[in-house]
Amino acid sequence: MKNLAKDTTGNHTSHIIIVGGTSGLGLALALHHQTLGWQVSVVGSSAAKIADINSQHPAIVTYVCDLTEPNQTRTLLDNLSDIPFQRLIYSAGSYTNERIHHLNQADSDQMLAINLQAFEQVFRWASSQLKQQLKQQYQSLDASKGNRPSLVCIASIAGTMDYPYASLYAKSKRAMIATASAYRAALIPYDIQVNCIASGYIDTQALRDLNDGDASHKPFIMSTKTAVDHIMQAIDDDVELAIFPRSMRYITSALNHLPKPVLNWILRSKLDKSS
Ligand SMILES: NC(=O)c1ccc[n+]([C@@H]2O[C@H](COP(=O)([O-])OP(=O)(O)OC[C@H]3O[C@@H](n4cnc5c(N)ncnc54)[C@H](OP(=O)(O)O)[C@@H]3O)[C@@H](O)[C@H]2O)c1
Repeated sequence: MKNLAKDTTGNHTSHIIIVGGTSGLGLALALHHQTLGWQVSVVGSSAAKIADINSQHPAIVTYVCDLTEPNQTRTLLDNLSDIPFQRLIYSAGSYTNERIHHLNQADSDQMLAINLQAFEQVFRWASSQLKQQLKQQYQSLDASKGNRPSLVCIASIAGTMDYPYASLYAKSKRAMIATASAYRAALIPYDIQVNCIASGYIDTQALRDLNDGDASHKPFIMSTKTAVDHIMQAIDDDVELAIFPRSMRYITSALNHLPKPVLNWILRSKLDKSS
């Protein structure tokens, strides 16, 4: 086993792995954990983003991996297997503007692979790693710090609504929410916490890119800092499914109470608009 980094007092620092931590929300979470004193590793597929992080934030350890390639993901996880960690956040995600009936094969393959298949591959690996660590050395290293091991995934508020006309993005995030809930139940006996984040619009570069450079028209859009604050609070409070902002949570909860045909009609007429 490789040693964990030590801080200036000689204590072991906690290590977080952020899959999809090279930009947007994942990178914001990485930088936030760094300011809290965590040792941070991030994973992404873009060599350019990794090069930027290596030059601007040299203390962050970077891994290049294309999560759409199961073999690459396997190799990445094998390489990470010797390095203990206390928290893993799966923030990798793929989204487009296209509605389900416009979805092309490439987007479909990518969305399914990143939002669902690689997510399951990573959570499966991470939960077994944490169990093993608990057995081997976790208690001696970190129990005194009260830092409960945690698995966190970034879904979307789109996944909290249940209707057949939902996009592949919404359906894959819905599956992520259900999977995280199953892992949460399964890991209770190990005292490993699992939190799923279902946020509304966050003003990241990826969302702006999808909206001609400006996403400010998106309803109740929030800054990445606000999103990070919500997520850290949800982890601290061990919330199973954190849905925010509150305004969006109320709207989606009200919509979920409508009879299914009405909900379908409303969303279908809304989503069919070209704007
Ligand atoms: N922004 C929003 O409004 C919003 C709202 C709700 C939920 N979310 C969710 O929040 C998460 C982050 O979104 P974001 O807006 O911050 O987007 P982003 O900047 O594009 O972040 C996505 C991350 O996933 C990584 N990724 C994508 N494809 C990958 C691949 N094939 N292999 C490895 N890594 C890959 C990206 O790294 P590379 O580019 O280096 O591959 C990047 O680090 C996503 O899961 C998204 O669904 C976003």
